[in-house]
Amino acid sequence: MANYEWKPEYSVGHSMLDAQHQKLFAICDEIEHLDDTTVGFSDDFQRLLEELIGYVSTHFVDEEKILEKLNYPDIKVQQKEHSHYLNDLSAILFEAEKGKLNLPALKVFASSWISTHVFTHDIAFKEFLLANT
Ligand SMILES: [Fe+2]
Repeated sequence: MANYEWKPEYSVGHSMLDAQHQKLFAICDEIEHLDDTTVGFSDDFQRLLEELIGYVSTHFVDEEKILEKLNYPDIKVQQKEHSHYLNDLSAILFEAEKGKLNLPALKVFASSWISTHVFTHDIAFKEFLLANT
């Protein structure tokens, strides 16, 4: 089981985005440690899914606004990935509303957003932000 603890070396060179990433890492860490055999699982799943959707939506909008304002050359990659992740979360929410709590899909989201998106695509704009803000 992975531990999604945010570390200073994961900084993307922007204090607000780093703070948002820290919060999202903490939510993802809770998701990673969810166990669907435990008492209270359903409540925890719903709470974390709602928190994740709320924070992710705000974060993606903020991140895109900052990159857009600075004319970041790879903004399209960010927008495409963000919309892909939001679609994934919408699908999980849609299932949850019908009573299917898809924990594997939620864990895949957490792992993919951190290891594929943050560690590659977000880290990629660090030098750009440090040079342009
Ligand atoms: Fe991003």
